[in-house]
Amino acid sequence: MHPWSLIEQVSIMTRIIVITSGKGGVGKTTVTANLGMALAKMGRQVALVDADFNLRNLDLLLGLEKRIVYGAFDFLAGECRLEQALVKDKRQDGLVLLPVSQKRSQGTVTPEQMKSLLDTLAPKYEYVLIDSPAGIEMGFQNAIAAATEALIITTPEIPSIRDADRTIKLLEAQGVERLHLIINRVRPLMARVFNLMSIQDVQELLDIPLIGVIPEDESVIVSTNHGEPLVLAENQSTSAIALNNIASRLEGKTVEFLDLDSPYDDLLEADETIDPTTSFANLCPYF
Ligand SMILES: Nc1ncnc2c1ncn2[C@@H]1O[C@H](COP(=O)(O)OP(=O)(O)OP(=O)(O)O)[C@@H](O)[C@H]1O
Ligand SMILES: [Mg+2]
Repeated sequence: MHPWSLIEQVSIMTRIIVITSGKGGVGKTTVTANLGMALAKMGRQVALVDADFNLRNLDLLLGLEKRIVYGAFDFLAGECRLEQALVKDKRQDGLVLLPVSQKRSQGTVTPEQMKSLLDTLAPKYEYVLIDSPAGIEMGFQNAIAAATEALIITTPEIPSIRDADRTIKLLEAQGVERLHLIINRVRPLMARVFNLMSIQDVQELLDIPLIGVIPEDESVIVSTNHGEPLVLAENQSTSAIALNNIASRLEGKTVEFLDLDSPYDDLLEADETIDPTTSFANLCPYF
């Protein structure tokens, strides 16, 4: 056998995963930033692609916004090399961000252009995670164009679940076969008290394998505003543990799902003055 064929055999197999939802504001960018960081911490080579060309904010969540010179549009316009557009993370060696350009007015991008961009980017990385915009229009079509896998994010609310369902059907029609579900902003006690959707209900409705459940957690909001992904924190919050667990499951490890019921139950039971069945307002401080 020629030695070069051996080198080809060990070349990196890149997983190109789109993070999408249909509905806006359910946690796509939060999950993309944290999973990217968690996988890089595990020693993986990871590229994050901000495919939300209009409302770009993956750079902010990663705290990399000040270091952007070029972006995807500059590369597509032939104004820079791909390496010039990539922002290397200083906290995790294995992590780079392909941002949207800071200054350039955004032109129209086609799914074919996205495919060719990803063809150029992917070979050097083990994971490419694509942060999709909300909706199912052209931005979504661009985000999924080169993906072979998808993480569908939903909250346990009916409008979000319905949009996730529509998204799953579109991904299947596009031939993206490996789909996994992440349920975000879960409030188990509230679901029980008010007879809302449980994790099991959501999974049964959407009928794709569950890869993670992330609780509602104020520390997500703090980390968003500090540009410091949760998974980097020394003291890991429940949501950070949940995100690390998703990264481990992507790596093929078997990790038990967290018992999200217990912390909230403790809080409620600790305060006997609260009657959870009386009003939502009474419960608010506990979520
Ligand atoms: N588990 C969580 N607990 C608390 N807040 C959360 C959680 N997940 C996300 N958020 C908050 O929800 C808001 C929306 O999150 P994010 O920007 O990640 O959503 P998105 O799906 O990317 O939105 P868009 O569709 O606008 O791109 C942010 O303010 C974020 O901090
Ligand atoms: Mg987003």
